[in-house]
Amino acid sequence: MTTSATFSATSAPSSASARPLLEVRDVRKTYHLPRGQTLKAVDGISLSVMPGEVLGLVGESGCGKSTLGRCLLRLTDVSSGQILFEGQDITHLSERALRPVRQRMQMVFQDSYASLNPRRRIGDLLAEPLKVHPGPDGRKRSRATIAARLHELMDLVSLPAAALDRYAHEFSGGQRQRINIARALALSPRLVVADEPVSALDVSVQAQIVNLFADLQARLGLTYVFVAHDLAVVRQISTRVAVMYLGAVVELGETDAVLHRPAHPYSAALTAAVPRPVVGAIRAAPLGGDIPSPVARPAGCRFHTRCPFVQGRCRAEEPALRRIGPSHSVACHFPLAEG
Ligand SMILES: Nc1ncnc2c1ncn2[C@@H]1O[C@H](COP(=O)(O)OP(=O)(O)OP(=O)(O)O)[C@@H](O)[C@H]1O
Ligand code: SF4
Ligand SMILES: [Mg+2]
Repeated sequence: MTTSATFSATSAPSSASARPLLEVRDVRKTYHLPRGQTLKAVDGISLSVMPGEVLGLVGESGCGKSTLGRCLLRLTDVSSGQILFEGQDITHLSERALRPVRQRMQMVFQDSYASLNPRRRIGDLLAEPLKVHPGPDGRKRSRATIAARLHELMDLVSLPAAALDRYAHEFSGGQRQRINIARALALSPRLVVADEPVSALDVSVQAQIVNLFADLQARLGLTYVFVAHDLAVVRQISTRVAVMYLGAVVELGETDAVLHRPAHPYSAALTAAVPRPVVGAIRAAPLGGDIPSPVARPAGCRFHTRCPFVQGRCRAEEPALRRIGPSHSVACHFPLAEG
């Protein structure tokens, strides 16, 4: 199939909804390794996501994308910092207090098979959250309500209702990802964190699933944090992009600005490899040099060991993420672009 399909527009946040749906304030996640080493997987990230936005999260393997995604949904506890969802500080909510919040924030993972219990029919898997959580009226959903919702969900992800009676192994990777999306949408969430949801799929199927995400976002007014290695995927679906390097956001801005006028040398290196028309054709980031170990992060600018523009100041002083335009920020002493 052609992969130059038109993707649904991602709606910009409206001025009427000025309050962020998600706010991340100086979030850190440190792992304590044997032999007393500490690994700063997420090293002081602050950002906010407006309702209806799609924030693309990119960066090389190991930079902390999945860890941040898991922190956002409280699938893992943060070491410090704050996470606000719909204005509510959820950083330290108990599991019990989190339950109603969890209905409104969901995750879709890369491995479509691992997330589906092979011994249960798809209908039962999808019905589970509907049975566990009460309906909008606060009461247990009836069997008929659940059955109707399952059909609606199949419809949303363009699978036949007969799929409900089948098992995960009977589907292709792309179909299984549709099922995972349906399950994530069962409780009508507002926020979906998608962690490389198309990375494991055949190139020809990737575009269909990205299209589905874009279509659902527009139809249901969803907000996504969309993690992807592949900048071409990010370009298709994201309103804004956050570029991560060694646990930190080094550039944050509107997709067009970051991809076409990157201000951080790392973003520039990533975007130099973006294929133009084809989703998934080339993996980004043929950068020189190895990524330093997150256990021994370089002093000063965390990118200085690989940066072609490094100067003395970079080795001594860590650049803060600072604003260079109305919605464009960069953590570099000598940005390549302004605005
Ligand atoms: N449970 C854990 N214990 C120790 N270290 C961890 C743990 N989970 C992740 N890490 C480390 O944290 C860092 C960030 O990992 P993470 O999986 O978030 O990266 P990523 O950007 O999602 O990478 P990828 O693109 O490969 O999925 C890595 O160095 C990883 O080895
Ligand atoms: S601060 Fe210096 S080393 Fe870091 S990205 Fe900017 S120019 Fe390169
Ligand atoms: Mg990951």
